[in-house]
Amino acid sequence: MLTATGLTVHYGQREVLHGVDVSVGSGELLAVLGANGSGKSTLLRAAAGLVPADGEVTIDGRRRGPLDIALVFQRIHLVGRRSALDNVCTGALGRLPLHRSLTPALFPREVREEAMGCLERVGLADRAHDRADGLSGGQQQRVAIARALCQRAPVVLADEPVSALDPAAAEQVLELLAELAHTERLAVLTVLHQPDLARRHADRVVGLRDGAVVLDGPPGQPVDSLYPHALLETPS
Ligand SMILES: Nc1ncnc2c1ncn2[C@@H]1O[C@H](COP(=O)(O)OP(=O)(O)O)[C@@H](O)[C@H]1O
Ligand SMILES: [Mg+2]
Repeated sequence: MLTATGLTVHYGQREVLHGVDVSVGSGELLAVLGANGSGKSTLLRAAAGLVPADGEVTIDGRRRGPLDIALVFQRIHLVGRRSALDNVCTGALGRLPLHRSLTPALFPREVREEAMGCLERVGLADRAHDRADGLSGGQQQRVAIARALCQRAPVVLADEPVSALDPAAAEQVLELLAELAHTERLAVLTVLHQPDLARRHADRVVGLRDGAVVLDGPPGQPVDSLYPHALLETPS
């Protein structure tokens, strides 16, 4: 379980996140919704320790450690010329001695086996030896999720992981994130651009407006108030 309490972020003089409390249970997929600029990415970065923030972040009651959080981004960060398997192996880098990290070919066999298991978990074992940049966008994002699994982090934070994908691939990736939350007991927080995706896949929804949480509850609740000025592509 990830618990963030009183998260406050300043960019220069400007406070953009105002003491946000948010928690994600193990086994739960939490969707964070909000208009552009409402602070979704800032909340995710602060929770991950990527931007300086006041407040407290704990995982299962303990202070967040450097390997406790795996990240999945909108723009897929894979090494394109490397195989899917090599990319997944890099999830394990944080727990390998430094010299191992220099040459992906030297990933120890147990790491390669674990990475293969992670690729199986996301349904891509048969593509393990393909170059990452030869895969579709949805497949690449599933490789990124496999890499997160290979990190063995109890918490996965994803910032609009499906925004660059076509609708069918987006559904598939969110189904996968929900399934991993439920079966692996991961705490998964994902920022989503589309409320209808949250309604279909999330266990709970948190809504941000102007850097503050304005709703927190079941995925079916009305979210129109989050988008006062927005012309939604897919009105809910
Ligand atoms: N690196 C930055 N420096 C200064 N201001 C920023 C920076 N990143 C985001 N902001 C501002 O912080 C607010 C929240 O941004 P962000 O968290 O990216 O929102 P969202 O992800 O919901 O679109 C916005 O007003 C944005 O302009
Ligand atoms: Mg953002």
